[in-house]
Amino acid sequence: MIEDLRRLEREALAAIAAAAGLDELEQVRVRYLGRREGRISAVLRRLGRLSPEERPAVGAAANRAKTAVAEALKNRLAELEAVAAPDRDGVDLTLPARGRWRGTIHPVSRVIDDIWAIFRSLGFTRARGPEVDTEWYNFVALNTPLDHPAADEQDTLYLGPGLLLRSHTSPVQIRTMEQYPPPIRIIAPGMVYRRDTYDATHTPAFAQIEGLVVDEGVTFVDLKATLAEFARRFWGPGTRVRFRPSFFPFTEPSAEVDVKRVIVREDGADEETDWIEIMGAGMVDPAVLDNVGYDSERYTGWAFGMGPARVALLRHGVRDLRLFYENDMRFLGQFR
Ligand code: DAH
Repeated sequence: MIEDLRRLEREALAAIAAAAGLDELEQVRVRYLGRREGRISAVLRRLGRLSPEERPAVGAAANRAKTAVAEALKNRLAELEAVAAPDRDGVDLTLPARGRWRGTIHPVSRVIDDIWAIFRSLGFTRARGPEVDTEWYNFVALNTPLDHPAADEQDTLYLGPGLLLRSHTSPVQIRTMEQYPPPIRIIAPGMVYRRDTYDATHTPAFAQIEGLVVDEGVTFVDLKATLAEFARRFWGPGTRVRFRPSFFPFTEPSAEVDVKRVIVREDGADEETDWIEIMGAGMVDPAVLDNVGYDSERYTGWAFGMGPARVALLRHGVRDLRLFYENDMRFLGQFR
């Protein structure tokens, strides 16, 4: 009988280990330990018929088998319950973990960083100025009379008499020259504000990057060569640059700068894009140098202003400027 008990115990332990679910495990329990039909229970029930000499050894063996099987049932039950937990309290430990939120640099900030890195390597430093500024810095010192349309309340957001949200980063030119003597070589990125309609190509708040160089002997050749070099480093060596005559109150002569990029088509062939306007630029008007107390007979300079959101638009093939300023995580999360 003791041999039978050992065999039953081995069989029971194997069946418990193999049980794949709670129902199956319950069947195993009934088969071996069930009150009426359990095979180990049956042995225990028959102990009374054994002789007093046999009884203690068989009884001890039967109890040992019962305890071992009961213990194995309990452990397997806990295992199966952990896996089958959604049945009990809605937690499914087999589900994949939730992804972590990873931050990313805003596409417009990335364009600013890339532009800045190029000019830094050309010897420029970074400057900044306030977003709330005065009519003097935003217009008058930049040779823009207050009856100029740009200074009109239709176009500029005034905060009070003579006080406004800067409509461009050009006032940083004035503030920098007031603070430092020449030579000047600065890049000044920042937000600017205009009373514009909110549509696919206009937002009332947007980023700009200003550039300014002032030194002895600076000419239009320096302007062209530096901006062409910038364009080739930013868009690639095949990029072509075009300077169209234009007008800004603070530069004379003034230009609008266009680039023609080379893009690789899907079939691998090179293709040139249309001309795309990327910035305004020009030789600093001597009147501006006079306004900051520079000797305009001795010093000359050039400047430019560029919209990095427009550059980001081109870079990513995005059609609507508003996407860059609405901070929708579904949009921004794509620029990893
Ligand atoms: N401030 C001009 C604008 O907002 C852009 C600009 C044009 C800046 C020519 C310059 C410049 O420094 O030389 O439209």
